[in-house]
Amino acid sequence: DEPIRVGLMGLGTVGTGVVRLIEEHQEDLVHQTGKPIAIEKILVRDLLKERPLAVDPDLLTNRPEEIVQNDRVDLVVEVMGGIEPTRGYLREALENGKHVVTANKDLMAAHGAELLSIAAQRNCDVYYEASVAGGIPILRALVEGFSSDRITRIVGIVNGTTNYILTEMARKGTPFEEALARAQELGYAEADPTADVEGLDAARKMAILGNLGFHTNLSLEEVSVRGVSDVTPADVHFAEQLGYVLKLVGIAGLDKEKVEASVQPVLLPRSHPLASVDGVFNAVCVYGEAVGETMFYGPGAGELPTATAVVSDLVTVANNMQLGVTGRSTVTPYREKRMKGADE
Ligand code: NDP
Ligand code: HSE
Repeated sequence: DEPIRVGLMGLGTVGTGVVRLIEEHQEDLVHQTGKPIAIEKILVRDLLKERPLAVDPDLLTNRPEEIVQNDRVDLVVEVMGGIEPTRGYLREALENGKHVVTANKDLMAAHGAELLSIAAQRNCDVYYEASVAGGIPILRALVEGFSSDRITRIVGIVNGTTNYILTEMARKGTPFEEALARAQELGYAEADPTADVEGLDAARKMAILGNLGFHTNLSLEEVSVRGVSDVTPADVHFAEQLGYVLKLVGIAGLDKEKVEASVQPVLLPRSHPLASVDGVFNAVCVYGEAVGETMFYGPGAGELPTATAVVSDLVTVANNMQLGVTGRSTVTPYREKRMKGADE
């Protein structure tokens, strides 16, 4: 049987997890998709770098055209990160009729509408489950699980690095820089961890959640942001003494028919469901008019948890390809404004 041919862009923390999962779960993936999944090429910056996982050197390339212009590639999995040149590569891939799976919240928060629109014109899929809350399938839940309801509020801890730092400070009094360095070693942090500690990464995720949850066009600039870079172990300890837990919390909600979103450090009472979300774990509470309160919990970053989200998207796209349909990208919430009053 002809395989589904994947062009992988990036072989860092997440890319390595993707290769591992495709190899180790191949048999299950064939059951799910009816076809083998084959990696055709892998784009990296440095061909000579020592890597934690042995891959066939012939698969590696530093020439993006070997993926985005390669007729043998059906589907591009982008886990290299950043906005440029990634945006250009994905635009070209979509224009060449390739489906896209990405973990890139920077790109989806800032240019998601553009990529989804090209995808719709070219009958391609764009899936981006891993861009928010790592291993928690929260985008699927928002798009599919609540399609019958009206979401009123989304509240979450959506950055693993800062939650890890705050937890280390609370448990062990670890200084900020030391906890951040450990989060970087563990592969949780962004290439530039300023995005984590200043709250921008969480803001990007809240923009994505807000757009999918409220079917609107929230831009990143509309999310008010405050990070945790000035928090000290003494602040965390003092909050604990008063019966509170300090967390970086994202909120998106409807306020008089408008979507408001923010990210900020918040003192939560110990009894709050988000107060016990520790370490690299994330949690997202979704409130709906009919369903009431729900909560989704799981690892928010890291190699294999994030790879599960990427490879699950890959399975969805592989199945869509065989059915001759496209999924989320054809019902883009960026164009579909079901929210009451959004167009008025
Ligand atoms: P890494 O920095 O670990 O890996 C990036 C990979 O992309 C490297 O293999 C690098 O090549 C390659 N790369 C980067 N820029 C270029 C370029 N211009 N040309 C060619 N290759 C390039 O990143 P992560 O795996 O941590 O993250 C990847 C993406 O996934 C990001 O968008 C991130 O936000 C997102 N994400 C990460 C999570 C995590 O837990 N780490 C969780 C959820 C999402 P080389 O190896 O040669 O340097
Ligand atoms: N740097 C991000 C985090 C990776 O720590 O949550 C997962 O998106």
